[in-house]
Amino acid sequence: MDAEHMGDSLERVLLTEEQIHARLAEMAAQIWADYEGKDLLLVGVLKGAVLVMADLMRALPGSVPMDWMAISSYGSGTKSSGVVRIIKDLDTDITGKHVLVVEDIIDSGLTLSWIRSNLSSRSPASVEICTLLRKPEVAKVAIDVKYVGFDIPNEFVVGYGLDYDERFRNLRCIGTLAPKVYS
Ligand code: PRP
Repeated sequence: MDAEHMGDSLERVLLTEEQIHARLAEMAAQIWADYEGKDLLLVGVLKGAVLVMADLMRALPGSVPMDWMAISSYGSGTKSSGVVRIIKDLDTDITGKHVLVVEDIIDSGLTLSWIRSNLSSRSPASVEICTLLRKPEVAKVAIDVKYVGFDIPNEFVVGYGLDYDERFRNLRCIGTLAPKVYS
């Protein structure tokens, strides 16, 4: 799906597919240099990170395994509570491994903060975070993120894995959603 297929649901393109791919290539080169000779495992968080993972791992110049987690906010608490439960856990025993969590976006930071502490309790060699997008204005917890693709303003963004009510994940670029869609 391209920007023109969005009609008036798209307010503006924030990042083109070319900009995203170029930044992921830079990040992949840095990751490869940093983890050379180390037992690296990429961990994606469903569902938003699917496209970031697919393009980031293909930009790496060597073989790296991946695994996936799916999580959900608990009960009546919105995701802003930061309390989550695991819907699908890793298949991999991460003891002694260098884990790099791959995400599409960090808003409040609460989800990643919980994931990092959960994974850290499993005796990995290290746990670091890589995210394509970050919204510094809405951070609720300080979270150390090793690789950030782009810092973006606090706007509702869709595309490249990011959804509104499960829509628009397959948009190639990342754009801001027209307010009429969600208001
Ligand atoms: C998004 C994103 C992160 C989380 C970030 O997932 O993929 O996991 O929100 O938000 P936070 O920093 O405020 O905790 P979402 O819950 O939208 O699920 P999805 O990946 O299935 O779209």
